[in-house]
Amino acid sequence: MTGYAGAEEGAVAQADVPVKPARQTQQAAHIDIGDLRHTFQRGGMITMALDGVDLSVQPGELVVVVGPSGCGKSTLLRIAAGLLPFTSGRVRVGGRDVAGPQTDLGIVFQSPVLLDWRNVLENVLIQLELRRLDPARYRERAMSLLADVGLAGFEDRRPRELSGGMRQRVAIVRALIHEPTLLMMDEPFGALDALTREQMRIDLEKLWLAQRHTLVFVTHGITEAVALADRVVVMTPRPGRIEKIIAVDLPRPRDKAVITSSRFTQYCDEITECFMRYGVIRY
Ligand SMILES: Nc1ncnc2c1ncn2[C@@H]1O[C@H](COP(=O)(O)OP(=O)(O)OP(=O)(O)O)[C@@H](O)[C@H]1O
Ligand SMILES: [Mg+2]
Repeated sequence: MTGYAGAEEGAVAQADVPVKPARQTQQAAHIDIGDLRHTFQRGGMITMALDGVDLSVQPGELVVVVGPSGCGKSTLLRIAAGLLPFTSGRVRVGGRDVAGPQTDLGIVFQSPVLLDWRNVLENVLIQLELRRLDPARYRERAMSLLADVGLAGFEDRRPRELSGGMRQRVAIVRALIHEPTLLMMDEPFGALDALTREQMRIDLEKLWLAQRHTLVFVTHGITEAVALADRVVVMTPRPGRIEKIIAVDLPRPRDKAVITSSRFTQYCDEITECFMRYGVIRY
């Protein structure tokens, strides 16, 4: 794609994104969480955020965690990323116990947090500077990833010149630039309007199909979860436990025909019913 004229929130690069085959062989889990409990203590206040979470994520898998506000989704992600010491249980990533911040990892949060005095490319390359890698070696990859997310021609722009969706695309490229095998996204599209959000979901799937990193994605959105996931992890209200794990057996890419199919609706209904049982959704 050579430009992006007139399509501020437009689709991913026009050329077909190459699709890497899914990993077929049974491998050791990329993320292995067992009987995880976490309690926050502040002053006299004790909050049990997670209570006995078991979750295994395979290499190259796209797992979506969906649950009500405050159920511990971000806590779970922060613990798996090594950003938060946990109370008890087992947390292993890439076969190693998590005891501190992970390096083979990219994270995207709800807010892109870009530096406004740096342009788009420089915002992407900061990831390498922080990791003491040579940004020059990654310049080509940065340009290519920016093109993949529809930002070709925007490399010199400042964040304030971009829309919310475009800023979040920069954050995604920044999270992937150092070629991590694991990407974690915590409600990355939560602040975007519905149309942009849907396009971001479509483009993220294309990017993931081309790269096949392991992806753990957190959302409140039931349809977003089903549209993206290999498996949807449904969490209970706090203290967060896993209520159900649903394998989504739908073809990819999840295009209009797939997301308007009756099977798609059945998966969404199954999740909705979980939340109705817990009183999270009341009709
Ligand atoms: N640093 C903290 N200190 C004390 N309590 C915390 C802290 N971080 C989170 N909590 C509490 O832990 C619980 C889980 O929080 P968490 O942010 O993981 O929820 P969440 O599922 O990500 O919610 P949301 O969907 O609203 O982002 C909440 O009750 C929250 O108030
Ligand atoms: Mg959260």
